[in-house]
Amino acid sequence: MDTRLIAASPAEVDTECLVVFALDHSVKSQGGNTKDKPEPRLAVKDATLEKAVADLVSSGEVTGKAFETAMLHRPQGLKAKRLLVVGAGKAKSFSHAEVRKAAGSAIRALKPKTIKSCAFVVPDLASGAEDAVRTMVEGALVADFDPDTYRSDRKDQSVKEITVVAPAGSDVGSDPGKLQNAITQGRVIGESQNFTRELVNEPSNRLTPTMLGDRAKKMCEAVGLKCELMGPDKIKEMKMGAFWSVAQGSDEEPRLIVMRYEPQGAPEKPVLGLVGKGITFDTGGISIKPADGMEKMKYDMAGGAAMIGAMRAIALLKPRVKVIGIVCATENMPSGKAQKPGDVQIAMSGKSIEIINTDAEGLLVLADGLYYARTLGCTHLIDAATLTGACVVALGYANAGVFANDEDAYQHFTQALQRSGEKFWRLPLDTEYLDQIRSNIADIMNTGGRWGGASTAAVFLKEFVDDTPWLHLDIAGTAWMEENKSWIAKGPSGIGVRSLIEFVRSFEVK
Ligand code: BES
Ligand code: MN
Ligand code: ZN
Repeated sequence: MDTRLIAASPAEVDTECLVVFALDHSVKSQGGNTKDKPEPRLAVKDATLEKAVADLVSSGEVTGKAFETAMLHRPQGLKAKRLLVVGAGKAKSFSHAEVRKAAGSAIRALKPKTIKSCAFVVPDLASGAEDAVRTMVEGALVADFDPDTYRSDRKDQSVKEITVVAPAGSDVGSDPGKLQNAITQGRVIGESQNFTRELVNEPSNRLTPTMLGDRAKKMCEAVGLKCELMGPDKIKEMKMGAFWSVAQGSDEEPRLIVMRYEPQGAPEKPVLGLVGKGITFDTGGISIKPADGMEKMKYDMAGGAAMIGAMRAIALLKPRVKVIGIVCATENMPSGKAQKPGDVQIAMSGKSIEIINTDAEGLLVLADGLYYARTLGCTHLIDAATLTGACVVALGYANAGVFANDEDAYQHFTQALQRSGEKFWRLPLDTEYLDQIRSNIADIMNTGGRWGGASTAAVFLKEFVDDTPWLHLDIAGTAWMEENKSWIAKGPSGIGVRSLIEFVRSFEVK
């Protein structure tokens, strides 16, 4: 998708389709149960546009309701061939989160109509025009993605070009340099999220750990990152007994993927470690999963893919802070070589682990990934993993889980969420949960029974990060969208990528 910026009056823009957002300005009336009447108004002040949509508004076809769309052909007084009005919800709560979704809804409305280019009018947003432009481009790119890679009837309905229209004369139009930069940022972030989604979408026969490593390496070469791939020998040599215990059961070789971003002029510290779970397929191993729904376990590498996508964006956005991305990639398979319940494994840190359930494999690979990151000098750690079904039970699909052992690091993350628009909910990490994973034969067990599974998994990981400030993202419920939304296709969501990017940027000393 190409992006361009113009400063012009919206009426003068010659385009296949001009896109403008509408907001509902009505406020709930006190008491009474009469239906509140919507008060739609365009999200930008423009008399010609208002005139063009007047009939749509008076007929009730445009209400400003979130993500409704209405299309007008040959709109009066405009050069554009069509005008698409996209609802963006209540004016009071209008933020960049709605801008992303409204821009996305526009793209997904245009795709099936095979309209290849469109022009977005920059809305008036309280957080500023740059924020509006960046998030508009992010939303448009994310919406353009469809997961139908291997369908022979795949139609290329991608929107080829979007134009960002900054109204001439407005203060929006007065600083094109800043807005151009906002477009570039939006592009990098949206494309990186889509890169992650492509990886997550791939089935396990087309994306083995080896292939995931190769894809990461290719990406690193393209954007100028150092990349190191390590196989079974190196993993065993480094005594990554927890990681290897999962990998040993598979005929496919594991890969430890290390991507380094060390920009010139960056301070020695912090060094941020981004560690991802890269299970390219999770059968459960000997504690095998039921067949029903098992196909979904190709997305068990979504945390790792998020790190690869985030590293891509970081390399292109060039914040002045050191970052190391680590992905522990392997299959979790049952076989004659597979580990069995009751086995005891020694992790790289030296801690002994009794395996109770071979399906709790994510925390095993992460235990060594996180510890390894510390040996590389990481001062702050963040991991992402489709780790527990319990997290899905707790939070459903609307929020991902976040755990933190350090308030300052958590502050950086909440700051990142304010920019990324992703939804995470903090879950507890109290030491009490440790009692559930004490083992008689070893230091800890890899499962803690039925209750509080997301937290027992998190405290397991905490044993391997010690005092290093650390965040753990459990994205089991959010990495795969079960339903189509008007702004995003069902399938891989790319959750985490945007927040990871913003998290890293929040450490930059300006
Ligand atoms: N990859 C799964 C977790 C998962 C569940 C991801 C649902 C996405 C959707 C993980 O490896 C797993 O199997 N966890 C087990 C742990 C249990 C055996 C303690 C689970 O959550 O059931
Ligand atoms: Mn599992
Ligand atoms: Zn898993």
